[in-house]
Amino acid sequence: MNDVTARILSRMITVGDFVSGEALCRECGITRSAVWKHISLLRSEGYSLDAVTGRGYRLSGLTGRPVEAEVLSFLAARRFGRKIAYHPVTASTNILAKTLAVEGVAEGCIVVADSQTGGRGRMGRTWVSPSGVNLYFSLILRPGVPSIRVPQLTLLVAVALHRALSDLSLDLAPMIKWPNDILANGKKLCGVLCEMQSEPDLTHFVVVGIGINVNQSEFPPPLHESATSLFLETGQLFSRAELLASVLNHFEPLYDAWLVEEDLGFILSFLQAHSLLQSKEVTIDQLKRSISGTVRGISRLGELMLDGAEGEIILVSSGEAHLRTSSSII
Ligand code: BTN
Repeated sequence: MNDVTARILSRMITVGDFVSGEALCRECGITRSAVWKHISLLRSEGYSLDAVTGRGYRLSGLTGRPVEAEVLSFLAARRFGRKIAYHPVTASTNILAKTLAVEGVAEGCIVVADSQTGGRGRMGRTWVSPSGVNLYFSLILRPGVPSIRVPQLTLLVAVALHRALSDLSLDLAPMIKWPNDILANGKKLCGVLCEMQSEPDLTHFVVVGIGINVNQSEFPPPLHESATSLFLETGQLFSRAELLASVLNHFEPLYDAWLVEEDLGFILSFLQAHSLLQSKEVTIDQLKRSISGTVRGISRLGELMLDGAEGEIILVSSGEAHLRTSSSII
């Protein structure tokens, strides 16, 4: 969508009623026939528009696509998401966001894509990113904290995701799986990949990459065993624009509180109450070793606290957690 089309869309969303063709001509500095072309373009992109002689144009339906104008219409956050770079397709929103961050864009800017050709997951995995169905976005942050605190952001994002999903009032019971997943019925719904550029005492920027499986109707094998979407869990379709805004609306106040707090203490009870791993036997796979134990909780610094076999307390700061059942590891 070009800038003028986006501007016309924004105007009609904001007004929420008829906007005269004359007003659109004036505001955008274009002719009547150019306005008509932009209206046709919007229709071809799926927007329903009424055109009534003497009254002008009125938007009667949104598409739910996470384009700037639609996201802004649901956004309450004051800094996060106020600037959105939307791409129909890109390799990875995290890669684009890192480039923008290096160029100096302000905290709160987000990069959103309708699809990714090289979506990145944790541990070098790929994040399958088909078009038209899910959310893939990256938020640029510039927290003035030592880099050792940055991994805590992943858990804060998990809280924001949990709250945004809970606001949908579905029979979903999402659970947070330390450190970066949201699961529903044991399958992955959202993933978070935080990447940063820093020195030990100084964080230059953090890119928070978030993937949410929203309206995807099937997953290829073997992913179908471990991944799910809101659509698959509920049978309903969701506005990606509204959900994206909701995540940012929840995350901004959490982030602001976290900046003034020493640690995650202020949100620990929420994290533990919604933690999939709480009191479970787990194995944590790290690059060079695996650690097993029973989950005692999450520390104020965001580590997973395990009770080891000898009764010792083990603090784990990173890794991939697997639930252990009597016969298998999930
Ligand atoms: C994981 O659970 O492994 C993390 C997945 C993170 C995926 C998101 S989609 C938007 C952003 N861009 C990427 O390339 N990855 C993250």
